[in-house]
Amino acid sequence: MRVLSGVQSSGRLHLGNYLGAMKQHIELQHEHECFYFIANYHALTTVQEPERLRSYTRDVALDYLAFGLDPERALLFRQSDVPEVTELAWILSTVTGKGLLDRATSYKDRVARGISPSMGLFGYPLLMAADILIYRSDVVPVGRDQVQHIEMAQDMAGYFNHTFGREALKRPEPRLNEAMIVPGVDGQKMSKSYGNTIDLFDPPQVMRKRIMSIKTDSTPLEAPKDPDRCNVFALYRLIAAPDEVQALERRYREGGMGYGEAKTLLADVTERLVGPARERRRALEADPDRVEDVLSSSGRKARDVARAVMAEVRDACGIVTGRGG
Ligand code: TRP
Repeated sequence: MRVLSGVQSSGRLHLGNYLGAMKQHIELQHEHECFYFIANYHALTTVQEPERLRSYTRDVALDYLAFGLDPERALLFRQSDVPEVTELAWILSTVTGKGLLDRATSYKDRVARGISPSMGLFGYPLLMAADILIYRSDVVPVGRDQVQHIEMAQDMAGYFNHTFGREALKRPEPRLNEAMIVPGVDGQKMSKSYGNTIDLFDPPQVMRKRIMSIKTDSTPLEAPKDPDRCNVFALYRLIAAPDEVQALERRYREGGMGYGEAKTLLADVTERLVGPARERRRALEADPDRVEDVLSSSGRKARDVARAVMAEVRDACGIVTGRGG
């Protein structure tokens, strides 16, 4: 089974990104053939400063490798190392009705948040479908907000195959990342746009301080507390080992423990998770050639797959290219 996902960096990695997506991506490398790419063409719809786009692209690579993505098992490449995706996006645009894209909720949300409604932003689902279909991906692990895009990719594969009478493109299936909503320090979903994130590659003391600032209710120290209604516990549950989670749950229900202590325990398990990754990230930062080797060699492998599929796609629709390509 081939698993594929794209990651669009919006800057610093936070706990919500890690628990919501990256952790599952990295775990899947042990079970399936995995293709992960850094969606830099997509990022260009919102990041239009070349230095920032370059550094975001690099940051995603460092973050994944630091948290244990193994380039021997999974591919990690830049979307732009397979420029054929933009060609496929164009071809898909010719068989896709505008009405389908008019229904995309993420476009409406982004425009409502003030992002300029460029054609790239409007056509975002076409490029995303191309990303998926060009590798004949079976499964695409994504968060809930991306499911509509996967359904559109399924539709587009169908339009192409139907129009040209050939099963050249394979319908992918979404796989919902099972992590529940990861709360931020204010209890809302953790998101950069809400300013409530816990950033993972801050210095340890900064990260700890941020955890100590998580909002809790005013139940007094002695009173029993409800773990299911506490943001600190919700995060602890996602990070700590099962026996640690059980132990803390008991202490909540018994009373006699303040939220400050729970936060300290959360900070400890978070540091246990991040500490080694911080070290690895530092080592990788000092070795840009190694990172580039991973990206380039993954990109070459991905591109070989994409080229074979594109040869079939072009043949199916009658696009001819000369020997130069
Ligand atoms: N749109 C995705 C996001 O914002 C990123 C993405 C681009 C992607 N292409 C993809 C995800 C293909 C899965 C498959 O998270």
